[in-house]
Amino acid sequence: MSEVVDLERHDEIAIVTVDSLPVNALSAAVRRGILQCVQTAVADPAVKAIVLTCAGRTFIAGADITEFGKPAQPPALAEVIAELENSPKPIVAAIHGTALGGGLEVALGCHFRVAVKNARFGLPEVKLGLLPGAGGTQRLPRAVGPELAVRMIVGGEPIDAAAALKQGLIDAIVEGPASGGEAFARKVLAERRTLRRLRDDDSKLETARVDRSIFTNAVAAMTKRARGLEAPFAAADAVGFSLDTPFDEALRKERELFLNLMNGDQSKAQRYAFFAEREAAKVTGIPEATKQRKVESVAIVGAGTMGGGIAMSFASAGIPVTLIETSDEPLQRGLGIMRKNFEATAARGGIATDEPARRMALVSGVVGLEHVRGADLIIEAVFETMAVKKEVFAALDTYAQPGAVLASNTSYLNINEIAAVTTRPQDVLGMHFFSPANVMKLCEIVRGAKTAPDVLMTAVAVARRIAKVPVVVGVCDGFVGNRMLAARSGQADRLLFEGALPRQVDAVVTRFGMPMGPFTMDDLAGLDIGWRSRKDRGVKSEIADALCEAGCFGQKTGKGYYRYESGSRAPLPDPEVETLIADTCARLDLERREIGDDEILERMVYPMVNEGARILEEGIAARPGDIDVVWLYGYGWPIYRGGPMYYADQVGLKHIADRLSCYARATNDSSLEPSPLLQRLAAEGKTFASLAAGGKVA
Ligand code: 3HC
Ligand code: NAI
Repeated sequence: MSEVVDLERHDEIAIVTVDSLPVNALSAAVRRGILQCVQTAVADPAVKAIVLTCAGRTFIAGADITEFGKPAQPPALAEVIAELENSPKPIVAAIHGTALGGGLEVALGCHFRVAVKNARFGLPEVKLGLLPGAGGTQRLPRAVGPELAVRMIVGGEPIDAAAALKQGLIDAIVEGPASGGEAFARKVLAERRTLRRLRDDDSKLETARVDRSIFTNAVAAMTKRARGLEAPFAAADAVGFSLDTPFDEALRKERELFLNLMNGDQSKAQRYAFFAEREAAKVTGIPEATKQRKVESVAIVGAGTMGGGIAMSFASAGIPVTLIETSDEPLQRGLGIMRKNFEATAARGGIATDEPARRMALVSGVVGLEHVRGADLIIEAVFETMAVKKEVFAALDTYAQPGAVLASNTSYLNINEIAAVTTRPQDVLGMHFFSPANVMKLCEIVRGAKTAPDVLMTAVAVARRIAKVPVVVGVCDGFVGNRMLAARSGQADRLLFEGALPRQVDAVVTRFGMPMGPFTMDDLAGLDIGWRSRKDRGVKSEIADALCEAGCFGQKTGKGYYRYESGSRAPLPDPEVETLIADTCARLDLERREIGDDEILERMVYPMVNEGARILEEGIAARPGDIDVVWLYGYGWPIYRGGPMYYADQVGLKHIADRLSCYARATNDSSLEPSPLLQRLAAEGKTFASLAAGGKVA
């Protein structure tokens, strides 16, 4: 019938199959194909019922995001769905994989829905800064009630087939999608079932129409963490229409909200982030045919903060791990923390109550590095000292089986130097997870000078298997994320000497959308870490050093840049610290001045952009998008601002270069001078996005 949608007839059942790889997204061709096939089937007197199904790995995964922002092509998705819903012949959606966004909206337009047992259903448009724009906000509440609809639409949370059956989203769970759909269609005909058009069925809305708090409470729960985002609030408004607005008018209003969001800056940034994340997983500069190595068993060395969190990520993905320590005491402590964390998640309802035990059963704690024998992948997460790392890698070289991938979780140290103590530097690389490692999604994959292509591919694939977002980076001090963070920290520190206070700087940074400011972050990590490192490097930072000398290490001591009441993590301004800052400046004969929020923001963000440009110039990151992904998933950069490099492109590189030059002069800080790449792009009126992939930016 069409290149991407096929129509077949099995006696009185027409089978319409969408076949548009990779994810059957609703491109114009797919929309047209569905419309034509359904119209043909409806017009064919021999056809009594229709099954809509998909080829490949999944049911329709949504609208084709690449079409957004381009001129609309007919037919509109809403038109296709109306055709399905108004069909006089029963239509059964037969679902496998994921029915997402416009895909689920198509299924909601069908009269019946069946799915295989591992299928998932969601309206994740909010994650792209959008809301369902083809009736999803009106039909889903009618299918499952407004409370769950709010969770799925405003929270963007998917549900599985068992929940979908229980909540009435699907009519049956079947073995195979096409055969199960066909059998179900025959049953519908045999039982002469009436066609259920969700648009006409308000039964599940009645309770919330009487007591609207059911809806408003669900919205409040789902928007608690939506600070700064527009889409979840618009999505909540749209679901609200289902309670008080006639169906067709509600569809019109939903569409209007959808178009506003689609044309807005936030959704553009979020769609950019979606593709940047997928692009980042594509490793540049390795032969195309590179194969991964097999990874079935994993060993993690060190059961501290990071080792434990990394082990949790593997156990959560169902992969067995051996967790290795130097003695029983740190081992038991590490295992205990992991168990407690899993149990806390179960207590909050995040995982089933039997999951903590199931996951912990996948972790075997042992003492002694010889237990790495047999592991396909070994991740080292011991103390951040080169001597210790070298000792551990020399031992790994002795015990690890040939071909095992040897990874270090170091935050700053030189992977090449670590690899050099082994006889197999080609098998060594960095896998830099972020804290808390069981939660944060980023994994910087650090490519050493001698890392073999298949080792790199293996690390990227493993990171994806444990639901992390991998980004390949090169060797330098702090790699991509921590190196840019250092540029920001340097300015944060200087701002204190010039006249700002920690609470002012942090407030500007959190208002911008970051989860916390630099001083709150330092207090959380522990000021002693930076102090130790400064002492090692022979560097001073008068204010931070004075706090440490007074035993104020941050949250763990109840005092740092802020004070903390016992048992609380909430930072409270501390007049003693403010006096200490003023006294230190006086002692150093530094004049303090009023610093405006605009200057603070520029000095927090632009130096990071500048460092990002240096990182690109040096080929440490292959693409500006990779840097953005690092910041989105490792540091909680607000997704609606796309990432630091994307943000810089929106602000304009000329403006950023000018402001940096200006601050460099005013503060006599040469590190603020715009990098050659930033200068060149600014002079040519170009953006970071204009750079080609592959680290070849010059
Ligand atoms: N449009 C266009 N391309 C898409 C797409 C979409 N909706 N969804 C995925 N793709 C592309 C990806 O960019 C990727 O392309 P690449 O191979 O060239 O990099 C390819 O499909 C495979 O995607 P993944 O690597 O993400 O594959 P996974 O198997 O890991 O995940 C998925 C599959 C769960 C379907 C995931 O791709 C996904 O979550 N997609 C987005 C789903 C979504 O947000 N749908 C809503 C869209 S908005 C909408 O429908 C509006 C409507 O209400 C009007
Ligand atoms: P930690 O001090 O909490 O844990 C280190 C653990 O390693 C300790 O339990 C120690 O007993 C164990 N250990 C030391 N030598 C060992 C050996 N030879 N064999 C087996 N176990 C050994 O340290 P943390 O914070 O987990 O850091 C570990 C690594 O992760 C460091 O390289 C650090 O830079 C890096 N990292 C830390 C982050 C953080 O926020 N804490 C973030 C990202 C990376």
